[in-house]
Amino acid sequence: MALLNDNYLKLKAGYLFPEIGRRVKAFTEAHPEAAARLIRCGIGDVTEPLPPVVVAALHRAVDEMAQRSTFRGYGPEQGYDFLRSAIAQNDYRSQGMDIADDEIFVSDGSKCDCGAILDILGDRNRIAISDPVYPVYVDTNVMVGHTGSADVSGAYEGLVYLPCTPQNGFIPEPPKEAVDVIYLCSPNNPTGAAATRPQLEAWVAYALRHGSILLFDAAYEAYITQAGVPHSIYEIPGARECAIEFRSFSKNGGFTGTRCAFTVVPKSLKARTGTGESMALHPLWSRRMTTKFNGVPYIVQRAAEALYSTEGRAQVRGLIEHYLGNAAVLVAGAKAAGLTVFGGVNAPYIWVATPAGNTSWQAFDRILSEAHVVITPGSGFGSKGEGYFRVSAFNSRANAEEVARRLQGLRW
Ligand code: MLT
Repeated sequence: MALLNDNYLKLKAGYLFPEIGRRVKAFTEAHPEAAARLIRCGIGDVTEPLPPVVVAALHRAVDEMAQRSTFRGYGPEQGYDFLRSAIAQNDYRSQGMDIADDEIFVSDGSKCDCGAILDILGDRNRIAISDPVYPVYVDTNVMVGHTGSADVSGAYEGLVYLPCTPQNGFIPEPPKEAVDVIYLCSPNNPTGAAATRPQLEAWVAYALRHGSILLFDAAYEAYITQAGVPHSIYEIPGARECAIEFRSFSKNGGFTGTRCAFTVVPKSLKARTGTGESMALHPLWSRRMTTKFNGVPYIVQRAAEALYSTEGRAQVRGLIEHYLGNAAVLVAGAKAAGLTVFGGVNAPYIWVATPAGNTSWQAFDRILSEAHVVITPGSGFGSKGEGYFRVSAFNSRANAEEVARRLQGLRW
């Protein structure tokens, strides 16, 4: 009989969001009258339609696909030059960062790339992750056998957990020990905290000292409102030698269902071979993409390119302001309800301490059954997320205002 991948058996029962979906389904089936009132602030999925520049670019590109003379088949696996160049120029070079067009790899999502990147890294690295953390970083490492089993708190043997608490502003500090690969996410999912320049400088210095690699997830960079907060790890000198950056069009251009993202792998980034030589990772990632990926659809890449036009930028700004406006409404509502609230300023998430000693899942169940609002229990993001819940600001303004009201109606 064929063997399965035993590592999958170490995973906790379900990926967090399907588990939430299962509980919500059970609740609405048992209480059909509540289903119509339900407001979803769980998964961070955008709600507003695609920006008009994107819709127009999609139509134009579809028309090209309808003509023999402009039809496209397979595209370059790393992305079309027009999009790689628009990204490198607008997101990096125009901001003073030295990133070449061919250091940009266009993909169908940062979640996919965060998992896929493990293909080009060795399997004996010491891996550090924040706690709480976006579960994909952990689960993808479990799936490829980089960990032992989980303990009762859900912590996997072999991973180094970096606690994120109110005391450190939910930004992890470099550990005393040497680790090889570190996942950083700023602005952070789930806590909404954004790392300052000195904090990122400390991480780059640590990585250069230990020969480590920072896997920097900047999917929410467009939500940064505070001046001086870095939008990219490459704003920090030395990061080209120690960091890979993941970015996405999901949360700025509303592409969660359209699918387009990119990963930056600088040519100067090196890692060690089994025999101790230092080698660049860029050719390995390029090789991985050409072998396992056939590129993002042409029409989608044209749509992403449109986000960099003058109107595109203004329309993205409008979307971000809408969601951050919701975040402000939710923060104010939760505070008025007497709750302790973090985040929501540089990120579309608010991170709330559960009141009255409730666990995260108890708070989830109460908010679902009494307020008919779906949130995400903090413990789903790691043991240090216990005692918190996350509210997503991706919604209509009317829904955000209604959630703010309902939170105030709860008696804990
Ligand atoms: C979340 O809710 O944490 C996000 O939607 C996850 C993601 O972007 O994959």
